Amino acid sequence: MTVHFIGAGPGAPDLLTLRGRDLIAASPVCLYAGSLVPEAILDHCPADARIVNTAPLSLDEIVDEIARAHAAGQDVARLHSGDLSVWSAMGEQLRRLRALGIPYAITPGVPAFAAAAATLGQELTLPGVAQSVVLTRTPGRASAMPDGETLANFARSGATLAIHLSIHNLEQVVAELAPRYGDDCPVAIVWRASWPDQKVIRGRLDTIAARLDPAMNRTALILVGPALGSADFDDSCLYAIGYDRRFRPQSADSPFAEGGIREHEGAEREGEA
Ligand SMILES: C[S@@+](CC[C@H](N)C(=O)[O-])C[C@H]1O[C@@H](n2cnc3c(N)ncnc32)[C@H](O)[C@@H]1O
Repeated sequence: MTVHFIGAGPGAPDLLTLRGRDLIAASPVCLYAGSLVPEAILDHCPADARIVNTAPLSLDEIVDEIARAHAAGQDVARLHSGDLSVWSAMGEQLRRLRALGIPYAITPGVPAFAAAAATLGQELTLPGVAQSVVLTRTPGRASAMPDGETLANFARSGATLAIHLSIHNLEQVVAELAPRYGDDCPVAIVWRASWPDQKVIRGRLDTIAARLDPAMNRTALILVGPALGSADFDDSCLYAIGYDRRFRPQSADSPFAEGGIREHEGAEREGEA
C-alpha cells in the first residue's frame, strides 16, 4: 500500500502527468484538495473509488482517512493543485506518514507559475535581464513570513518574482516593490491560468492596481520584474553561431569534437558543454 502524492496541475484537467493519471486510475481511494483541484481530474478515479474532498477536513481527519486505507491495504491518490513542492501542505502530511510507517511516493505536477508564464507567452529568465525566478508570497492570516523573506529583499536581486497567494494584497506588493524596481517595472497578473476563463492584466507597478478587475480574486499570480516587459535582451549562447559546445563542436580541434570529450571532462563538469 502506498500513498501517492500527485501534483494535479494548475486547473486544466489535461495538465496532469501520465504517471499521475495512471496512479489515480489505479488507486481505490482518492483524497483531493477541493479548493483548487479541478473536479474533472476525478474522472480518472475507478468507478467504485472512495473520493473525499479534504478542503473541510483537519490534518488529523486526513491522516485518519489515510490510516484506514493503509489498514485495508488500499493505495491512496492524494491530489494537490499545481506541484507539491510549494504551498501544498505535503510536508506536514509526510511527517505524519513517516511517524506511522506508511509508505508514500511523490509525482510532481505543473506549477501555477509555469502555467502563468505559458499563458503570457513569456520566458521568465531572459539572458542579460533576469536569470532567477523567486517563488514567493506575502504574509497571510495563517502564515507569517520568516524574517528576511520580504519582497523588498527579493527585489534587491532584480529577479523575476512570482508572487502567490497575494492578489488581495496587491497594493502592499506595489508599495514594497516600487522603491526597488521603479514605478515603470512591468507587472502581469494571471488569473486562473489554464482554466477556460483565464484572464491576464498587464501594466507597470504604478498602473496595475487600477487595472485589476475585482472579480480576479483568489487564484491569481502576480509576476513582477524587468524580464516581463523586455524585448531588449541578448540571444543565449546555446544556439549562437560560433559558440563551441558539446552538441555543436565548431572545429576538429574543439574539446567537444569526437574523441575530445573524455580529455575535457573538466570543462563538461563546469557546465561549459
Ligand atoms: C496554495 S497555492 C498552491 C500552489 C501550487 N502548489 C503550485 O504549484 O502552483 C495557491 C496559489 O497558487 C496560485 N495559483 C494556483 N493555481 C493558479 C492558476 N491556475 N492561475 C494563477 N495562479 C494560481 C495562486 O497565487 C494561489 O493563491
